[in-house]
Amino acid sequence: MLKTLLTVAFLLLIGISAPAQQEQTPPKATPVAPYTIPIDAVRQANPVKPTPESIAGGKKWWGYDCAMCHGKDGDGKGDIAEDMKLKVTDFTNPATLKDRTDGELFYVIKNGKGDMPPEGKRMKSEGLWDLVNYVRSLAKKPAPSEDKAPQ
Ligand code: HEC
Repeated sequence: MLKTLLTVAFLLLIGISAPAQQEQTPPKATPVAPYTIPIDAVRQANPVKPTPESIAGGKKWWGYDCAMCHGKDGDGKGDIAEDMKLKVTDFTNPATLKDRTDGELFYVIKNGKGDMPPEGKRMKSEGLWDLVNYVRSLAKKPAPSEDKAPQ
């Protein structure tokens, strides 16, 4: 009788632990979909003017959340980027983001891209636009009162 009980308990144990063990095997890597930014997002206009206040706000968050990968000055040589051997583009080079719209940068900062984590859950839209303005300011000397000159 005791033996039967033990056997039942043993079988139960195996029954419970077997599926639990299966869950521990890592899931197969899913193929990565190409990164596309919806056209509406690409065309979205920046509602926040690149005022000194906006850029200063972006700079503050940059120091907390971005500099470890993108580098303090945006050169792409942050500590984590070096450790993880990430390919991070150099924002100090004006050519880097020349062809990107503010909407695209906003989308990437909000939703993340590749090895870059999304910032959107932590921050309101306005803060994200401040970051866009700050990223833009890295490529050139900030010219506070002048709007971007059309080419
Ligand atoms: C874990 C490292 C990491 C952190 C933290 C990080 N980034 Fe990135 N970021 C990357 C990488 C890597 C890429 C390139 C992604 C790709 O193209 O696959 C990237 C791309 C970008 C781009 C797009 C550049 C382009 O050409 O499309 C912008 C803009 C950007 N990051 C801004 C930010 C801002 C602002 C923050 C802070 C809120 C931030 N990143 C935090 C690693 C990081």
